Amino acid sequence: MNKPQGFASSVASYPNRGKWGDSRWRGNCSGHIIKDALGSYFDWSNPEALFVDPSEGSGTSGDVARELGVNYKGLDLHSGFNLLRDDLLESVGRPAEMIFWHPPYHSMIEYSKNVWGNGQAHPDDLSNCQSVGEFIEKSQLALMNIYDALSHQGRATYCVLIGNMRKSGEFYDLTGMLQRVAPGKLRDIIIKQQHNCVSDSRRYGGASFARIAHETLLVFERDRRILCAIDFAFQVEQRLANAQRMTWRSALKRVTRPGEKVHLQDLYARLSGYAKRVATNQNFEAKIRQVVRRFEEDFTPLGKGVYERVAA
Ligand SMILES: C[S@@+](CC[C@H](N)C(=O)[O-])C[C@H]1O[C@@H](n2cnc3c(N)ncnc32)[C@H](O)[C@@H]1O
Repeated sequence: MNKPQGFASSVASYPNRGKWGDSRWRGNCSGHIIKDALGSYFDWSNPEALFVDPSEGSGTSGDVARELGVNYKGLDLHSGFNLLRDDLLESVGRPAEMIFWHPPYHSMIEYSKNVWGNGQAHPDDLSNCQSVGEFIEKSQLALMNIYDALSHQGRATYCVLIGNMRKSGEFYDLTGMLQRVAPGKLRDIIIKQQHNCVSDSRRYGGASFARIAHETLLVFERDRRILCAIDFAFQVEQRLANAQRMTWRSALKRVTRPGEKVHLQDLYARLSGYAKRVATNQNFEAKIRQVVRRFEEDFTPLGKGVYERVAA
């Protein structure tokens, strides 16, 4: 195996996409980023180590892997593998040391309809989602499948190359949305400058937004505390519950002054407008009681429903 150098920094730029894959395949990526990712995250000490791409498109990953002498397995919806329905680990046959995933950027390029299909969109084609919400939900399912196909040895890693989208004047942070639902421990974030994309030829002079000119490589490694992807789903729920508690805590601090003595009834009154807008909080008074009791460092109980907002 010929180990490449890997990323020199967290910013990458490849003006020339290189010889790998098919440059005529719309939405193909540069083999340089795959080569750098392998150089940085692949287990080069293990001659059996396996590299997998579950949506290989024109085969860029395979070309890079062959050149470097890396064991490789590539799949795609166009050749019968469906990341939303088929188990990746089972389809590959053994766990992977590294997985590279370059999904469609929502509906920017419709693959089964316009790139490899017969003009009819495949129902499980990730570029055929009817909304951004549907795309993120299905992508999370795909990411769980990917996570569960990683080896339990060493620092098994998966990378997701994704770009953001502007459609009908709206900006969609697909990168941030995917990052929030991706299982594993974040290992790196690489910003890749985009060259020669279709939008380069459009005129943006005087526009009140910046032309999207980068993609992001999100790099996650297996987290030993997350046994499988389902385990992670529960952690996300927990994170959301914590975030909600923190929001109530901040809101309570926002409506009280340091040193102020305040009765629970006043707190209910001050926050009832906010609570009505937060549809998930059926019983906001109970929520307020729970939060002031939980954060004694902010609210000292004085008895009979009165609390003193700590001065710090
Ligand atoms: C951005 S392209 C990948 C391009 C590739 N990196 C290259 O350089 O040629 C996204 C790929 O995702 C595939 N895809 C879409 N939905 C899929 C699914 N459910 N399962 C597996 N692959 C899927 C598409 O067929 C397409 O080839």
